[in-house]
Amino acid sequence: MSLLKELKKPLASELKEFQRVFRQSVKTSVPLINVIMQYILKAKGKQIRPLIVLYSAGLFDGINDSTYRSATLIELLHTATLVHDDVVDDSDRRRGRFSINALWKNKIAVLIGDYLLSRGMLTALQAKDYHTLEIVSEAVKEMSEGELLQIEKARKLDIDETVYYEVIRKKTASLLASCFAVGAASAKMSEENIQKMWKIGEYTGMAFQIKDDIFDFESNNDIGKPTGIDIKEKKMTLPLIFLLNNSSFLEKRKIINIVKRHNNNKEKVTWLIDAVVMSGGIDYATDKMLEFKSKALLLLKEFPENESRDALEQIIEFTIDRKK
Ligand code: IPE
Ligand code: IPE
Ligand code: MG
Ligand code: MG
Repeated sequence: MSLLKELKKPLASELKEFQRVFRQSVKTSVPLINVIMQYILKAKGKQIRPLIVLYSAGLFDGINDSTYRSATLIELLHTATLVHDDVVDDSDRRRGRFSINALWKNKIAVLIGDYLLSRGMLTALQAKDYHTLEIVSEAVKEMSEGELLQIEKARKLDIDETVYYEVIRKKTASLLASCFAVGAASAKMSEENIQKMWKIGEYTGMAFQIKDDIFDFESNNDIGKPTGIDIKEKKMTLPLIFLLNNSSFLEKRKIINIVKRHNNNKEKVTWLIDAVVMSGGIDYATDKMLEFKSKALLLLKEFPENESRDALEQIIEFTIDRKK
């Protein structure tokens, strides 16, 4: 059995309850939304975020109704950002199927993303989960900033390692951070512990996105979405930044030129990907990913040991060891 399946087993009934709340929260009488929601509900994804929310509450012995709502809010938000992200990245595949924009075009995908976001916020608001909303709204803001900063850097092609970390902290790590934090908040933990959980999630999220960026350099994987798309979109991620940092002025110019003008030229892009691999860019990114993972684990170990802590440890390991 896969590690993820193994991790989900002890919370099977809790995850079922989460599914129920999730489905409930997107019910609508608008036929077009309904058709698209059915499509979205069929390809669920890993659901690692709700799993983290549940175990984070479990760490403090306290899964309750608001934990389920928090998990729902976060998964709705995550889904919304993926739907939007595929528009932004012009990507036609997600979770092994056509993306929403591939099937219904950009206009509808943008509106569906908004719809998912608003339903999530509304569900939390109606239940007066103000603390959750406070934590998650911060992540929503950061995610938008991260995606826009990324676009700015793709236009100017002047991203460096420090800014790369800022981009991934905002666009990905902030939501993972809020998973750990809202779980703890729903179990009525102290502000200090909630902050600590946020930090654990932030480190985990950094590792998670570096892994995702490494996937994009591989061609023989089955992650359910296109690979090689980052260079195509002029997104310079850590392995490529490493290559640039270790290139001469002339090499740098050649690389930037490919990203800028030949990012659709298969031969040139393949050359660039090979150059990244040969420079040790993937190994470098892997090392950094492991560093973030270790930081997350170290902080987590400050909490008393129980089954949920063990599970969270394994989830953090899974972040860097996953096959999709
Ligand atoms: C994809 O997240 C977006 C990133 C932050 C890299 P996941 O890999 O968790 O996507 P699903 O939900 O399992 O499809
Ligand atoms: C992370 O960036 C996505 C979000 C924060 C929504 P990517 O663009 O790399 O994510 P994938 O690879 O499309 O899932
Ligand atoms: Mg994308
Ligand atoms: Mg990606």
